[in-house]
Amino acid sequence: MSLITTFEEYKEQYKKSIEQPEQFWAEQAEQFVWKKRWDNVLDWNFVEPKIEWFAGGKLNITENCLDRHLAERGDQVAYYWEPNEPGDNPFQYTYSELHEQVCKFANVLKKNGAKKGDRICIYMPMVPELAVALLACARIGAIHSVVFGGFSALALSGRIQDCDCNIVITSDGAYRGAKSIPIKDVVDEALEICPSVKKVIVVERTNSPIKMVAGRDVLWSEEMKEASSDCLAEAMDAEDILFILYTSGSTGKPKGVVHTCGGYMVYTHYTFENVFQYKKDEVYWCTADIGWITGHSYIVYAPLLAGATSVMFEGIPTYPDAGRFWQVIDKYKVNIFYTAPTAIRALEAAGLDFVKPYKLDSLKVLGSVGEPINEEAWNWYNVNIGKENCPIVDTWWQTETGGILISPLAGITKTKPSFATLPLPGIQPVLVDDKGNEITGNGVEGNLCIKFPWPSIIRTTYGDHERCRQTYFATYPGLYFTGDGCKRDLDGYYRITGRVDDVMNVSGHRIGTAEVESAINMHVDVVESAVVAFPHDIKGQGIYAYVICTNKNKSAEFLRLEIMAEITKLIGPIAKPDKIQIVSGLPKTRSGKIMRRILRKIAEGDINNLGDISTLLDPSIVEEIKAGAL
Ligand code: PRX
Repeated sequence: MSLITTFEEYKEQYKKSIEQPEQFWAEQAEQFVWKKRWDNVLDWNFVEPKIEWFAGGKLNITENCLDRHLAERGDQVAYYWEPNEPGDNPFQYTYSELHEQVCKFANVLKKNGAKKGDRICIYMPMVPELAVALLACARIGAIHSVVFGGFSALALSGRIQDCDCNIVITSDGAYRGAKSIPIKDVVDEALEICPSVKKVIVVERTNSPIKMVAGRDVLWSEEMKEASSDCLAEAMDAEDILFILYTSGSTGKPKGVVHTCGGYMVYTHYTFENVFQYKKDEVYWCTADIGWITGHSYIVYAPLLAGATSVMFEGIPTYPDAGRFWQVIDKYKVNIFYTAPTAIRALEAAGLDFVKPYKLDSLKVLGSVGEPINEEAWNWYNVNIGKENCPIVDTWWQTETGGILISPLAGITKTKPSFATLPLPGIQPVLVDDKGNEITGNGVEGNLCIKFPWPSIIRTTYGDHERCRQTYFATYPGLYFTGDGCKRDLDGYYRITGRVDDVMNVSGHRIGTAEVESAINMHVDVVESAVVAFPHDIKGQGIYAYVICTNKNKSAEFLRLEIMAEITKLIGPIAKPDKIQIVSGLPKTRSGKIMRRILRKIAEGDINNLGDISTLLDPSIVEEIKAGAL
């Protein structure tokens, strides 16, 4: 059995997972339906890297998410869907209904030319059809590439081109708070430069007028009318690709992180049940968007694998007011609630008057994900939402890890504010110094690496394996490098301190400084720019851009607006800087390297503590930047 119920059992399972990893994970895998058993549990090296779990095994993840549950819990709710507008009709799918919808839509995909191995882009708001779309792709062995609905047309087209999608699944529009967003228009614009896309399937959500391209665009509702609800699940190799999800790194374009079928299934399920201690009939709600890894793993796949009942929410935490989350918790009697620190901080700032009207007495477990949770937010969450009666699981993980790696087990691991606490079974974290030497013992700090594969580790970056090697396996040979800094305290508890590379975490969204700089540099008047993160009370980190412009006739304010528009066009509004300072130069070393350390200090407001600036080509520029700091 996989469910850990005591701390002693955690220690036993952990020990076994390290001493006999293959046997440990094979036991976890055995509870699933396999069309053919695997030949080999694990084959790996972190040099190429090559990582294969359950090779030779054949399965379809949707049979394990859906068909496997039909006899026992066909009538149980899989998803309660709560719309953006509180008064609008909610909606629900039982496991049988979800199974039927997935089979039908899988047939729609086939009718529209989709085959096993094809890449299908999904660009949609949080409507029930979004979960159906992912699962239908998986049913027929097509690879889904979900792009978060907040990305711009250009960002979308870049992701479609990178993996050569032939179908896009989208909606006419989206509701987000008070806004209505023209999603289909964005797709139309993106597709002007994506000749690989032959079909677009459109869900009607807002019923706003849209342009339908003859021969290319079809309506979801029309296609579903005729579709059969019989669809055999394609037999997939355990190492066939399940999905691609793009994420930002410290250099270049976003990378397509690849996850495969077997290991991802086993690991996400194991972590869901153990971290949240999910018990039959409980109601679970993860507030993430399915456009990010948290939604893939812990809204779609893992809860369904566990036969859970989930809430799926279309809206935002502050609409129509900052009590919305708490109202939804009471409405569905949510037992397990999983959200991000940025939402907690925003709701804390709104004040307790928005919390008081709600009972919140169904809650048993609270979760946090996506960025470090500061002690104050942790305490607020614990006292005002959990009523000091719900364990908080601060779950650390990444797009590349597929599932949670370091986290308390709810009610089992003793928690400590702002600590992700201990590694889950199968996870062997190590801290290394900048030269790659392992830092042993407790009460230490270093770069967080993992030294042994777990079943849902990244397999490759789509179309560019060398980039995967370079990014994750080359910095410290023999180790997977997370890009995060981390402390291990005297109790051996892990506390993630944030990224040590040029990746920012803004409201839990991962954004590369290089990506924002290259967008800014596209502006005709910009010569060069440097982007750094600075601490932000609500977002965790804000974006600070230093920009050199040639055009002296434009006001700084006008330039700022133009630069914002450029970023919105190239990436999306999530990457808009909080501050843009126009400067006449950047602090560079004699070899031409920008000294970001200095820019970070200035952005943090720590201007009297810049350290050694004598190696700069022109130290006087620092004075100018300090004087104009925002
Ligand atoms: O810096 C860490 C931070 O988010 C990064 C991963 O971002 P992404 O791939 O978008 O996935 C987010 C959702 C899993 C990590 O490198 N991060 C994530 N969770 C935590 C965290 N930092 C501190 N504590 C966490 N619980």
